[in-house]
Formats: sequence, C-alpha cells, structure tokens
Amino acid sequence: MTNDLLAGRRILVTGGSRGLGLAMAQAAGEAGAELVLAARNQSQLDSSVAELAEAGIAATAVAADLADPAETDRLVQQVSERGLHGVVHAAGVQHRAPADEFGDEDFARVVEVNLASPFRLTRELVRNDVMGSLRSVVLVGSLGSSIAIPRAVAYAASKSGLLGLARTIAAEWAPRNIRVNVLSPGYFYTELTADLLDDPEQRARVTGRIPMGRLGHPSELGGAAVFLLSDWAGYVTGQQLVVDGGWLGA
Ligand SMILES: NC(=O)c1ccc[n+]([C@@H]2O[C@H](COP(=O)([O-])OP(=O)(O)OC[C@H]3O[C@@H](n4cnc5c(N)ncnc54)[C@H](OP(=O)(O)O)[C@@H]3O)[C@@H](O)[C@H]2O)c1
Repeated sequence: MTNDLLAGRRILVTGGSRGLGLAMAQAAGEAGAELVLAARNQSQLDSSVAELAEAGIAATAVAADLADPAETDRLVQQVSERGLHGVVHAAGVQHRAPADEFGDEDFARVVEVNLASPFRLTRELVRNDVMGSLRSVVLVGSLGSSIAIPRAVAYAASKSGLLGLARTIAAEWAPRNIRVNVLSPGYFYTELTADLLDDPEQRARVTGRIPMGRLGHPSELGGAAVFLLSDWAGYVTGQQLVVDGGWLGA
C-alpha cells in the first residue's frame, strides 16, 4: 500500500534480510522511507536490497552479527554518518526444547540475540545521537511476550523481557521525544517457524487456536510497523501492539 507516511525518513531494520523484517522494510519503503538492512548473511542482504530496488525502494545493507558488541559498534558507526529516524529490531532466533532439557548455551544465545542485542544497539544509537527527528524504536515481540510458548523457554523469556525493556526506556527517553514500542506478531510462516509449521499436526494445532483460522501473511505486519514508525503514533510509547489474527483476545 503506497503512501507517504515515512517520506524522507531513514529506517534501520535489523533482521531485514528475510521474513518479517524484510516485509516490514518493504512496507516502510512503500511509505517513502529509505532503508538500511542489517543481518549476518551478506548474500541474503544483497538479494533483499535488489528485491526492494526492483520495487522502487532505496535500501542499503550492513552485514553484522548483533550478538557481537564490536559488530554493533561498527554498524552504529556506519549509520551515524547520515543519521536515522527510526529502527525496527526484527533480528531474532528460536531454539526449541523442553525446559528441563534446555542447555545454558542455547538459553544464553537466544536471550543475547533477542533481548540483550536490541538493548545494546538502541542504547548505542541514542548515546551516539544517531536518531533524527522521528525517533521511533520498534522492538519485535511475540505471543511469547504475553503467554507461555511450550518448548521455547528462552524465547518466551527474551520476548517477555522486551516489554520491560520497552516500558523502561520509553519512560526514560520520553522527555527526549524518543518513542519505544513492542510490535508482537502472532504466527507467520518464515524460516523461524518452518520447523514447527511444516509439521501438519503442529500447524493444525496453531491455526486451530487462531480465531481468524489462518496464519498471518508477512505483509500484514507492515501497516502496524509503519504506524509505530510514523507521526500518526506520535503520542504512543511504552506500548505493545499485537498482530495475531485474534489469538490473545480470544
Ligand atoms: N515468524 C513468526 O511467526 C514470528 C512470530 C512472532 C515473532 N517473530 C519475530 O519476528 C522477528 C523476525 O522473525 P522471522 O520469523 O522473520 O525469522 P527469520 O526469517 O528467521 O529472520 C530472522 C532474521 O534475523 C537475522 N538474525 C538472526 N540472528 C542474527 C544476529 N545474531 N545478528 C544479526 N541478525 C540476525 C536473520 O539473518 P541472518 O541469519 O543472516 O543473521 C534474519 O534476517 C524475530 O524477532 C522473531 O522472533 C516471528
């Protein structure tokens, strides 16, 4: 849906190389934003930049492992030259195992990528005054921000943690006009959920819980991301916006 809600705005999307991050980058681009995509895999980033260019959207990419503080610093340096108006933190990982078998290393890795990294990157963007006049931070949560996700204890803990992170930095940085919100998708088919949703029984269990009776399409997250990034959400901060086909409300 083409509009000009983000015309002239420069938005960083972590995890923008595929899946929901790329879909939100596309929606922001269709609203007039110029994008910077960040993820680890350079060739996937390059093909996403090319895909966006074909749709007439200006985007560049920075390859960075956001679990590595030195690579985060390098990303911040690279975006600081031209500044940013907003950031969407979509980089995320999953690990599934029963809680009593869940290993320390897996737990630490999931929490590092999903919770510690977005905090570190946001802090550095603010500390280095990289954010421009829009100043909107969108943290990508999950149903796990609000309810149990069996066999995904680290994921649920990390996504719940984003709510506390968002509320706290939203309150601290509101006087500086920096808004921070959590955008929580329900179930969408991506590389992250393929292992679960390729299992017909699991897919039936999941869709059976969704009042709309189907998975979300990645493009259906774009409008919510654009809203939170735009001036239409100018008085919205410290909140969670859930896009889940009705799951949490039912
Ligand atoms: N799909 C769903 O149903 C669903 C539901 C709720 C929430 N979410 C959330 O939505 C976000 C996007 O998920 P998705 O479903 O689109 O998954 P995805 O297709 O697996 O995409 C994950 C993205 O994160 C990047 N990434 C992973 N680890 C990284 C790291 N250490 N440093 C930098 N980038 C990293 C990946 O690129 P590289 O591997 O190249 O680094 C990729 O771009 C995640 O936060 C996820 O938790 C998804």
